[in-house]
Amino acid sequence: MSGSKLKVIVTRKLPEAVETRMSELFDVELNTSDKPMTIEELSDAAGRCDALVPTLTDKIDGRVLARAGDRLRLIAQFGVGVDNIDVRSASLRGITVTNTPGVLTEDTADMTLALLLAVPRRIIDGVDAMRRGEFEGWSPTWMLGRRIYGKRLGIVGMGRIGRAVARRAKAFGLQIHYHNRKPAPAAVEEELGATYWESLDQMLARMDIVSVNAPHTPASFHLISARRLKLMKPSAYIVNTSRGEVVDEAALIRALETGELAGAGLDVYENEPAVNPRLLKLPNVVLLPHMSSATEEGRIDMGEKVIINIKTFADGHRPPDRVLPAML
Ligand code: GLV
Repeated sequence: MSGSKLKVIVTRKLPEAVETRMSELFDVELNTSDKPMTIEELSDAAGRCDALVPTLTDKIDGRVLARAGDRLRLIAQFGVGVDNIDVRSASLRGITVTNTPGVLTEDTADMTLALLLAVPRRIIDGVDAMRRGEFEGWSPTWMLGRRIYGKRLGIVGMGRIGRAVARRAKAFGLQIHYHNRKPAPAAVEEELGATYWESLDQMLARMDIVSVNAPHTPASFHLISARRLKLMKPSAYIVNTSRGEVVDEAALIRALETGELAGAGLDVYENEPAVNPRLLKLPNVVLLPHMSSATEEGRIDMGEKVIINIKTFADGHRPPDRVLPAML
């Protein structure tokens, strides 16, 4: 493929520096309006390029791939989650899929901690009270939240982001517990002083705060189910910066409404960009608009990863961040 430039179509607006570099390296079609593409537009784009650069807002399912024809060789996702892509269908069609792991780990972990602090310590309640002019001076009984230090944090999914959350949480004096398909290496457990729970049920029943850091795959859909939410302590909090689909959102809302859970900090939702209006009415939640990885530095790093993946592929090598169906 070297010689003539690879035809690349990018589905959303990317940082200026990334778009400029892509334009130098490839025959690139950008989306300067940033308007998300419809299914028809996506199928059309996929049929006219060698490499497609989608994001998590583009659903690349079997239908889009079938309509794309034979030209498309690479889907270089701008993002770490690939749950918007039917990786198996892509693989069957001989299309390589890549993502951008690693570069949004620390930003996402920072935001997880921000939510983990904000809900029990009522940071948003405090900000709102200030804005409404309700501060009448310090009071022994006003704005009381719950202590973070010494509590048990249960991390669901101990990959890169889960570990980065654990490192931060340990510094706040939280006791680290985790559930994962496999235990982390002994050195990681030792560094974090982390306790592995093979049984998610057993862990959830004992935690004060639960952080969801598992990717959304068919196996993790509603992993935090209605039944599992009922196992949690009524004083417990839940934070989700992964994907909305990992938690049964309707069941979570019911648990928050009925006081079966103390509160939630959410950055992701099951039907984005729609947010259940009942969530917006709850006093004990902090809601963010899917912004955990949103730093200028992170977006540029993600763009650089996408470029390296495309360039390596174009040069006839195996791209560094290839995603295989078996990994999901
Ligand atoms: C962000 O949510 C990502 O998956 O990159």
